[in-house]
Formats: sequence, structure tokens, C-alpha cells
Amino acid sequence: MGTPVYYAGANGMLLAFLDRLFFSTHFDKSMKVGASVISSRRAGSTSAYDEINKYFGICNMPIVSSTYWNEVHGSKQEEVEKDLEGLQTMRNLARNMAFMMKAIQLGKEKYGLPKMERGVFTNFSDGL
Ligand SMILES: Cc1cc2nc3c(=O)[nH]c(=O)nc-3n(C[C@H](O)[C@H](O)[C@H](O)COP(=O)(O)O)c2cc1C
Repeated sequence: MGTPVYYAGANGMLLAFLDRLFFSTHFDKSMKVGASVISSRRAGSTSAYDEINKYFGICNMPIVSSTYWNEVHGSKQEEVEKDLEGLQTMRNLARNMAFMMKAIQLGKEKYGLPKMERGVFTNFSDGL
């Protein structure tokens, strides 16, 4: 999932889309890897990164990381192309993602998916 940063957060349309996607689709997302890529001029990228990764974290989706948080900087493409560390981060992210997908596939074939417990839903409605 990729997003620019607006007011130190992710793009609102993307968040609306992710709310619908993660709420209304019921196919099993377990062990499908998730990666977030953030593009900002200057700041707010780590908040947007946290926002996106939380969708993956509630659905048994391993989050792909890199050698820095997955962000590039610049207002325009030409500026981002000068962010050499950002581009390096993206290349490492892509390789890590490919590796994780292959490793998880092999793991699934050898061991199957881990057992998933469901049914407990604590909301303290009994006041205890
Ligand atoms: C309304 C608005 C808010 C923005 N807020 C931020 C911000 O909080 N931090 C930042 O680094 N860049 C901010 N930017 C810059 C964008 O993240 C950056 O220019 C990005 O590349 C824009 O992508 P877009 O052309 O797809 O909209 C903002 C841009 C806009 C238009």
C-alpha cells in the first residue's frame, strides 16, 4: 500500500478504501505479507507508516520491513529520485517482500498455517 503524506497522516481516500477493504472482505488474509510505502516532502511519514501497518497487524499479515522505515522524500518524482537512501530502502524492501512470500509459501507447504484461535472478544461490558 502506498500513500503520500497529508497533514502528517496517510491519504484520506486510501484510509477510507482500507477501512472498507479490511472490514467487508472476508477472504483469509493470514500470512499474506503487507508492505506500506510512504512518500512525503518532509515529515509525518512515520505516522502514516504506523497507520497503514495497523491494517496488516490485525489480520495475521506479516509486515515487511527494510533497512529504514519504508519512506521516500520529495514533492516531485525528480526530487524523490535524488533521495538515494530512500531508493535503497525501497530496493531492500522489495527483495525482503519477495523473500518473505517465498519463505512463507515453503513454510505453508512444510508445516501448514499456524493454528488460529478465535471467539474471545473482550469488551468489559460486564463492568469487571
Ligand atoms: C494538503 C497537503 C498536505 C501535505 N502535508 C504534508 C505533510 O504533513 N508532511 C509532508 O512531508 N508533506 C506533506 N505534503 C506534501 C506531500 O506529501 C508530497 O508533496 C507528496 O508527494 C504529494 O503527493 P501527491 O502529488 O500524490 O498528492 C502535503 C501536501 C498536500 C497537498
